[in-house]
Amino acid sequence: MLDQEKLSSLIKDSVSVFVYDTVTSTNDVAKELCKTNDGCILVVADGQTNGRGRQGKSFFSPKGSGLYFSMVFPVSSPTAEFAGVTCAVAVACSRAIKKITDLDVKIKWVNDIYIENRKACGILVQSVSENGVITKLIVGIGINISTVDFPDEIKDIATSLGKRIDRNILAAEIANNISELIFKNPDDYIDEYREKSNVIGKEITYFQNNIAHKAQAVDIDKNGGLVVNENGKTITLTSGEITVRFPL
Ligand code: BTN
Repeated sequence: MLDQEKLSSLIKDSVSVFVYDTVTSTNDVAKELCKTNDGCILVVADGQTNGRGRQGKSFFSPKGSGLYFSMVFPVSSPTAEFAGVTCAVAVACSRAIKKITDLDVKIKWVNDIYIENRKACGILVQSVSENGVITKLIVGIGINISTVDFPDEIKDIATSLGKRIDRNILAAEIANNISELIFKNPDDYIDEYREKSNVIGKEITYFQNNIAHKAQAVDIDKNGGLVVNENGKTITLTSGEITVRFPL
């Protein structure tokens, strides 16, 4: 059971912890809370009715069988210079999941966490701006822990950790790892990101202006860009979604 006191006691840094039963989306609640709370915030919910992912997709968030949470980090930057953040968060999640479950964890560029070729965890980083300055980063993480009945559209590509774990312990471990890595130089974690990548060497498809491009993923560069070879030409992708066919 999610427990505000237990979770707070496991978090190393000074973070205000809010625990809810069901919310629309912890990212939305975090956005509201950071209007009246300075400093770092952690919002955790037992379930979400409108969990969201990247590219306008929804994130299936049934009550009780996953971990759905958002962290708010105050920042001050006129530009979106947080390119490394998504990679840092992916490394933080993969370290924590490995430590708590001992599962073999992989990262699908840019920041999905995979177990045995299926997605078990998604990450959505958003920002809040005031007068053209980014003032908060909102890092949302959803992990399927014991979910089994996935909707048809994701049932062949989604999985769960499938371990009995205390969600307070996993949430705290992830939060502590994120706090440690989020503002570090990518040099400090990019090798680990690269080692955990499950796309290097694979045929991928990326989309540009709604056009599908087939290419081969060859490397992750020092800033977390995906280096691909497309018809003999080397290109670095810095954002967007890729699709990869993993053997099932
Ligand atoms: C993705 O798979 O594209 C990202 C999924 C992110 C889901 C998490 S669950 C907690 C937080 N609240 C949301 O609405 N989304 C994120």
